[in-house]
Amino acid sequence: MTNKYSMQPAPIGVFDSGFGGLSILREIRKELPQYDYIFLGDNARAPYGNRSFQLVYEFTLQAVKYLFSQGCHLVILACNTASAKALRSIQQRDLEGLDPNRRVLGVIRPTVEEIGHLTKSRNVGLFGTPGTVQSLSYDIEIGKMHPDIKVYSHACPMWVPLVENRESDGPGADYFVKKDVDALMSQCKEIDSIILGCTHYPLLYDKIKLYAPAGVNIIEQGPIVARSLKDYLKRHPEMEARCTRGGNCCYCTTEDASRFSPVASIFVNHTVEAHHVIL
Ligand code: DGL
Repeated sequence: MTNKYSMQPAPIGVFDSGFGGLSILREIRKELPQYDYIFLGDNARAPYGNRSFQLVYEFTLQAVKYLFSQGCHLVILACNTASAKALRSIQQRDLEGLDPNRRVLGVIRPTVEEIGHLTKSRNVGLFGTPGTVQSLSYDIEIGKMHPDIKVYSHACPMWVPLVENRESDGPGADYFVKKDVDALMSQCKEIDSIILGCTHYPLLYDKIKLYAPAGVNIIEQGPIVARSLKDYLKRHPEMEARCTRGGNCCYCTTEDASRFSPVASIFVNHTVEAHHVIL
């Protein structure tokens, strides 16, 4: 079979429906600054959280193909909704035909691996998009890996729009965060750790912390995914050799680049110059 994608070493691809994946990218670049990255945000079609399985799968597959066409050998789905609804199909059904030597990894598994060390009460809360919560991906994965942990989930359909519309510091965010934290905690008072199961939610971290009971761990995925990627590259030297080292990052968005760049800059704490791409 002739490979339709370049075999040259290339940047690591990082994908999200919108801006949220930048919270993961930022932590990955802190942990692994030596590599090059291409970030792709499908901002024109975000949010994904309320979309059907089929659409999230189709959009995510288009994004993966785009990143492969840019040469990426390794793509991280820095999006829980895409990890929940599309990752397995892409890994099991599509990779073989696209290029069996390339890899697509998600954010749910590394988070689930870590949660066993973080909860003492074995009662864990999960905030996610409606898509992630309805998929039951966390319940299933935690059930397999830590059968003694009980998961209490709550979908927060307003949180991504608040972040995408730069309202995460406003009073609307206080209203919805308090309401959703109360709704989650009312399911079980023993919850001692809450997974922020959407990569947009770290932008609401301060408010979540404020309204959650004192002492409850609020778990952000960025550092967890970054450590897990570092470990993956150590265990897969053949993949590591296919990742270019230059410390650069190229930002791509399906939205108008001039709308993407100012918000992206807030997420990553430096000026971002983005390119508009069509999937
Ligand atoms: N940031 C994404 C996630 O982690 C999804 C946001 C959305 O598009 O709804 O789930």
